[in-house]
Amino acid sequence: MTVTVLGRQADPASLVEGEYSFTSDDFRTIAALIYEQSGIALAETKASLVYSRLAKRLRKLGLPTFADYCELISSPDGEGERGAMLNALTTNVTRFYREPHHFVHLRDEVLRPAIPFLKAGGRMRLWSAACSSGQEPYSMALTLLSVLPEAPQLDIKILATDIDSRILDQARSGVYPDDLVSPIPAAQRDRWMRRDPTDRQAWIMGQEVRSLVIFKELNLIGDWPVRGPFDAIFCRNVMIYFDDPTQERICERFSALLAPAGRLYIGHSERVSTRISGLVSDGLTVYRRTGAGKP
Ligand SMILES: C[S@@+](CC[C@H](N)C(=O)[O-])C[C@H]1O[C@@H](n2cnc3c(N)ncnc32)[C@H](O)[C@@H]1O
Repeated sequence: MTVTVLGRQADPASLVEGEYSFTSDDFRTIAALIYEQSGIALAETKASLVYSRLAKRLRKLGLPTFADYCELISSPDGEGERGAMLNALTTNVTRFYREPHHFVHLRDEVLRPAIPFLKAGGRMRLWSAACSSGQEPYSMALTLLSVLPEAPQLDIKILATDIDSRILDQARSGVYPDDLVSPIPAAQRDRWMRRDPTDRQAWIMGQEVRSLVIFKELNLIGDWPVRGPFDAIFCRNVMIYFDDPTQERICERFSALLAPAGRLYIGHSERVSTRISGLVSDGLTVYRRTGAGKP
């Protein structure tokens, strides 16, 4: 049966009904490039999502078909568009204090016990390894400030990284509308944030919070120009997009970068394989580094 879509004859080989024909070959070309670039393994069940996010790119570029788009991203000239495609396909859903038990654990098991050491000049490094628009590292910073208000004057830093350059710009701006800020307790918000002077419906992170967080672009399947050891690594709700061997490689690398007794926090639907050396369970989706970590 031939279906007509927006006045055109729909292609029966298309995986998705819509303005553009989107075949299995198109999907495979895109999925292979995304896997190579980011480790994200896209199943064909995600065809509608890929179509809807990339149809916007085709319109913007004035390309008539997905086959033309695939030709562009597969060519040396397509480097810029490969980055735009990746940004369009990453899922950036996040929120302040997402999975709140992790922040209670961080405060009570990692931060509070370290206070005397930190006040005496000790060093602490935390890492939010897929930070999206910044709510995760800023929640870590606010948790830290709740028990150690002088943290900005001490040797404590939170590294916040993501593969998506566009979402990092948003994170760096530190501006969030009222509805996104609602999980932050009012007392913390009033102490460490201020009203955005250009938008009365939004809040902006204060200087003390910002001074604790360093944002950088980093691909979890590429080189990691980071200096451990880390006392805590949050890598939540991203490994779910990777296949098992990629997840295992990343967890081994985290394990090697954790300080002795450093913690790894993962998302609620993620698991750390029992094959990973040096990590033992330390609560719900929290792991503790045993023995001596490799700095
Ligand atoms: C669903 S968000 C999770 C944000 C936050 N960790 C949380 O749990 O709320 C997933 C993030 O992982 C990032 N991401 C995807 N692939 C990545 C990779 N290969 N390296 C680094 N970040 C990646 C995406 O850009 C996105 O911002």
